[in-house]
Amino acid sequence: MKTKLALGADHAGYEYKDKLIAYLSENGYECVDCGTNGPESVDYPIHASRVCELVRSGECAFGILVCGTGIGMSIAANKHRGIRAALCNEAESTAMTRHHNNSNVLCLGARMIPFETALELTKVFLTTEFDGGRHLRRVEMLDNLL
Ligand code: RB5
Repeated sequence: MKTKLALGADHAGYEYKDKLIAYLSENGYECVDCGTNGPESVDYPIHASRVCELVRSGECAFGILVCGTGIGMSIAANKHRGIRAALCNEAESTAMTRHHNNSNVLCLGARMIPFETALELTKVFLTTEFDGGRHLRRVEMLDNLL
């Protein structure tokens, strides 16, 4: 069965989001497109919530959110219980947030990093496993903060 992903973006991030969906769909993933789908200005919390609900419900294994900086998306996503969203700009912390935080949403800034980097970070995020062990206790504590 294909791993199912939810992807969302605002007007600053939809082109990266669309290109990620194209790549991921051709490479064994099932993608749910949570918009936006054009350059018209939209409010990123709406798209963050759509993605986070699909991840929280278990319908999607992971979410990917793209805005201009990735910051607004990460703030919005982390207000959802059960969501551990990580804003990533380089590969090492992208791998570490899967290893240690069991992050389930990747946030990317389309105005901050080239698409090639966004694609690399997406691949790292989706192929790196959670370490568990002592990190599980800490991850469980995160849910109790909301
Ligand atoms: C939109 O102009 C911009 O504010 C948004 O994409 C994002 O960077 C917010 O954090």
